[in-house]
Amino acid sequence: MTHRIAIIAGDGIGTEVMPEGIRALEATAKRFNLDLEFTTFEFGSCDYYLEHGKMLPDDWFEQLKGFDALFYGAVGWPDKVPDHISLWGSLLQFRRRFDQYINLRPCKLMPGIKSPLAGRKPGDIDFYVVRENTEGEYSSVGGKMFEGTDREVVIQDTVMTRTGVDRVLKYAFELAQTRPRKKLTSATKSNGISITMPYWDERVVEMAKGYPEIAVDKFHIDILTANFVLHPDWFDVVVGSNLFGDILSDLGPACTGTIGIAPSANINPEGNFPSLFEPVHGSAPDIAGKGIANPIGQIWSGAMMLEHLGYKEAGDAIVTAIEEVLSEGDATVLTRDVGGEGTTASLGKAIANAISH
Ligand code: NAD
Ligand code: IPM
Ligand code: MN
Repeated sequence: MTHRIAIIAGDGIGTEVMPEGIRALEATAKRFNLDLEFTTFEFGSCDYYLEHGKMLPDDWFEQLKGFDALFYGAVGWPDKVPDHISLWGSLLQFRRRFDQYINLRPCKLMPGIKSPLAGRKPGDIDFYVVRENTEGEYSSVGGKMFEGTDREVVIQDTVMTRTGVDRVLKYAFELAQTRPRKKLTSATKSNGISITMPYWDERVVEMAKGYPEIAVDKFHIDILTANFVLHPDWFDVVVGSNLFGDILSDLGPACTGTIGIAPSANINPEGNFPSLFEPVHGSAPDIAGKGIANPIGQIWSGAMMLEHLGYKEAGDAIVTAIEEVLSEGDATVLTRDVGGEGTTASLGKAIANAISH
């Protein structure tokens, strides 16, 4: 069976880590006899915007909806296009129109990587952030009044729907059920945000009734960020709104050494539309063009994509290869963010080799 994968590399290091993501997928396809067919799209980048005045062609939905998955790099180049225009013109459109309402972001301290948190070793940090991905604080409800005058007003409303909140909570509870610790932490801020966040808390309590075997706790987002740093071992499945999930999913990987390894899956669980797999990080203009970006976030996202397509063993093989190469600790292979002096390609090739043998 052929699986059709749409490739959108985007900007900056997105274009550098993508070839390594594909290299790993090709090595995996060969080993497990999978038929993956890649189709590359140029749209969805800031250069495309500069040429066409928009991030995506008008028929992007028609062009992409028939793919089995989207494999995505990173988008954004603020010096060329303001971030809210490039991101609302591409990634956030995909998440919404393809109803990818789950953003699943594993956070794991890998062997061979030193956590910036004193004394933490592999096994101490191993949790998932489940982020609501289509509504919440990322709403397009709002507007401006009295622009350019002293009375200028800007408003952007947070939108929480029963459907939207319940479906992400259900996914998180079901994920917690599959984990040995069976623990779920909810990120809230119902002490200060007095309408939407108490609603979120109420829905958690209601949903928990259906999962009596899951131990549930909640923290306000301020102390939760502190506890990510102080007690990362407390966490198993952490569920949060769009914004809280975004913040936690950069902080978590930073605690595991580098954001460069963190993967994510933007999932439409019903399979009505393609899901999208991308690293957590962005286009990193500060290191782009140097060939030193860590490709593991992209490669691991490929593993999540294969698992989503039904090839768990193949996905696991990629993660094992990543762990193997990191454990070997060869400084000529590893990128700088994980203590080496190698390149995007040296690390990508080592992982592809490890997949192949
Ligand atoms: P960023 O993730 O691009 O970079 C943050 C820091 O992490 C930088 O110092 C960067 O060098 C480092 N870093 C990131 N990925 C790395 C990797 N693979 N290897 C080594 N180091 C890495 O975040 P930012 O600087 O806030 O954003 C830059 C641009 O990317 C902006 O336009 C932003 O909107 C966009 N962005 C896009 C996505 C996405 O496409 N999903 C995600 C985040 C940010
Ligand atoms: C992420 C990114 C995006 C988000 C930005 C680039 C819009 O930070 O995927 O985490 O906030 O969702
Ligand atoms: Mn983010």
